Amino acid sequence: MAACILNDGFFSGKHMAAGLSHPPHIAFVGAGNMASSIIGGLIESGHPAECISAADPFPVSLERLREIAPVATYSDNLAAVQVADIIILAVKPQVMAAATDSIATAVQSNRSLVISIAAGVTIASMQARLGPEAAIVRCMPNTPALVGCGASGLFANDKTSAKQREFAQLVLSAVGITCWVESEPELDAITALSGSGPAYFFLFIEAMVDAGIALGLDAKTARTLALQTSLGASRMAIESDVDLVELRRRVTSPGGTTERAIQSFELDGLRKIVAKAMCAAADRAAEMAREMG
Ligand SMILES: NC(=O)c1ccc[n+]([C@@H]2O[C@H](COP(=O)([O-])OP(=O)(O)OC[C@H]3O[C@@H](n4cnc5c(N)ncnc54)[C@H](OP(=O)(O)O)[C@@H]3O)[C@@H](O)[C@H]2O)c1
Repeated sequence: MAACILNDGFFSGKHMAAGLSHPPHIAFVGAGNMASSIIGGLIESGHPAECISAADPFPVSLERLREIAPVATYSDNLAAVQVADIIILAVKPQVMAAATDSIATAVQSNRSLVISIAAGVTIASMQARLGPEAAIVRCMPNTPALVGCGASGLFANDKTSAKQREFAQLVLSAVGITCWVESEPELDAITALSGSGPAYFFLFIEAMVDAGIALGLDAKTARTLALQTSLGASRMAIESDVDLVELRRRVTSPGGTTERAIQSFELDGLRKIVAKAMCAAADRAAEMAREMG
C-alpha cells in the first residue's frame, strides 16, 4: 500500500516542527541533472543555500550548480558531507559503490540520513558499505522532476526515524509528489509505473502525432494539439474528484467519434499491451537490483 503526498511547499519553518533549531544541512554527492533540479526546488521552497553543499568530480557540474544558488561545492565527497544531516546520493548506479565508500566514515560518525535516488541499488547493498546502523531511504524519482513535476516512490529502512522520513519526504517534495511504499520490492512496480512512465506517454503522444499527420494535419499542429490534450486530460483528472472511468465516459457520447476510437483500442487489446509492458519493466528493475546487488 502506498501513501501519496502532494507537494505542499518546503522547509521554511518545518524544521522547527520536526524539533530542529536550524534547517537541516543537505549534502549532494553527484551534482548532475537530478541534484540540480532538487537543489533548485529546495531553494525555491525557502531552504537556505548556506545549508546545502554538493560534491562532484566534474568542475563544470559544480559551476552550473553555483549558477542556480550560492551553495558550497567540493571535488571531494567526504568534505561535502562533513556537517550534513541529510546526504543525497545522486550519482549513476554504476558509481554508487565508490560514492557510498567515500562517505561511510561521516555517515557512521554523524548518523546522517542517506537518501539514494539511483535506480536498482538496494538498501542491503548500501548498508553493506555504510554500516548496519545507517538510516537509508531509497527513492525512485522520474524525469519530470527536472521541471518540478516529478513523482517519487520512497522506501525507508528500519533504521530511519519518523523525523528522518519526514525530511526525506520534504526533500523530494521540492520536485513533485511523493509516495511511500512499505516494502522495497514495491519500488520495482513504481519504477515500471512512474519511473519509466514518462517514456510511455511520449510514445503514445508520438503515435497520436503520427496518426494526426496521416489524417492530414501538419506536423506542428498535430504535435501542439497532442501535447496540450495530454496536459489538459491530466489536469482534469488531477483537479477533479471524478474517477477516470467516469471522466472517460463523459467524453464518450454513445454512437460518437470517441466511442468508435475506444472500441478500436479495446478490440486491439490496449490494456493487455500496457500490462505486459509494465510487467516487463518491473521484471527488469528486479533483475537490475540483483545485478547491482
Ligand atoms: N535523470 C532522471 O530523471 C532520473 C530519474 C530517476 C532516477 N535517476 C537517478 O538519479 C541518479 C542521478 O541521475 P542524473 O540524471 O542526475 O545523472 P548525472 O546528470 O549523470 O549526474 C551524476 C553526477 O555524478 C557525478 N559523479 C560520478 N561519479 C561520482 C562520484 N564517485 N562521486 C560524486 N559524484 C560523481 C557525475 O560526474 P561525471 O559526469 O564526471 O561522471 C555527474 O556529474 C542516477 O542514479 C539515476 O539513475 C535519474
